[in-house]
Amino acid sequence: MTTATGQPGPGPGPGSGSGPGSGTATRDAARVTDAVKVYGSGDTAVRALDGVSVGFPAGRFTAIMGPSGSGKSTLMHCAAGLDTLTSGSARIGGAELGALDDRRLTLLRRDRVGFVFQAFNLVPTLTVAENITLPMDLAKKRGDRASAEWTDALIDVVGLRDRLHHRPAELSGGQQQRVAVARAFAGRPDVVFADEPTGNLDSRSGEDVLRLLGRAVRQMDRTVVMVTHDPVAAAHADEVVFLADGRLVDTMTDPTADKVLDRLKEFDTTSAAVPGGKGAPS
Ligand SMILES: Nc1ncnc2c1ncn2[C@@H]1O[C@H](COP(=O)(O)OP(=O)(O)OP(=O)(O)O)[C@@H](O)[C@H]1O
Ligand SMILES: [Mg+2]
Repeated sequence: MTTATGQPGPGPGPGSGSGPGSGTATRDAARVTDAVKVYGSGDTAVRALDGVSVGFPAGRFTAIMGPSGSGKSTLMHCAAGLDTLTSGSARIGGAELGALDDRRLTLLRRDRVGFVFQAFNLVPTLTVAENITLPMDLAKKRGDRASAEWTDALIDVVGLRDRLHHRPAELSGGQQQRVAVARAFAGRPDVVFADEPTGNLDSRSGEDVLRLLGRAVRQMDRTVVMVTHDPVAAAHADEVVFLADGRLVDTMTDPTADKVLDRLKEFDTTSAAVPGGKGAPS
């Protein structure tokens, strides 16, 4: 169950404050509490996050949805340590991101977080195999046998064994994104964040990538947090959290595309009434 906003609820969970790997099934792999993010200042300030508290449970696939500009990417970036909160707390496992200096934050991102973006962001001069192992090569984690076995399994999961020595330019968009997914999971991170991972793909390649993310969670016990505006994509998740005007407004467990679509339609008509929105000039 995604721990929702504003309520007393179960709190940050037993993993909080302790190191990774000691958690239970309900541990949050990542969590933000009272998260506020303000861009700019004065009259032009935009309150992109307006007091969001949400946990992303370990071993689960969570989708973040909401209208354009509702703060989805901001939430993901702040939860993943790519950007800093104006106030509030962001934790990955037991680590409070705001307490880390730049060097430690960089190490944490490298060792414990994976990313998939809408643009595949592969290194064009490296082969598929080299792109996949890049995070581990950077972390010098590649030598051990467990890592080699993990990578080997990943290559089969993403179905790229016959493309290992190709370069990205020789692959379709869907294949490139599958490489990016394998790369995100290569270092066995605590959590993989994906921002519109199917945004540049046709629906069939998108389906492949979504199934992959789902399989990583269910068969390889990974944690995925995915921003999407597509109800069909969100239906691959175990739960959906809905943002509007920088606030968490709802959560849904076991989503279907129809249920998500209905919910989105509903707050199309109500979001205008959300009080105290960020008040940004449009
Ligand atoms: N670097 C920035 N500087 C100023 N304002 C920003 C910046 N990044 C985002 N914003 C503003 O913060 C708000 C939330 O943006 P965010 O990118 O998180 O939305 P989103 O939900 O991901 O939207 P989309 O679905 O269009 O990607 C928007 O009003 C946006 O204009
Ligand atoms: Mg976005």
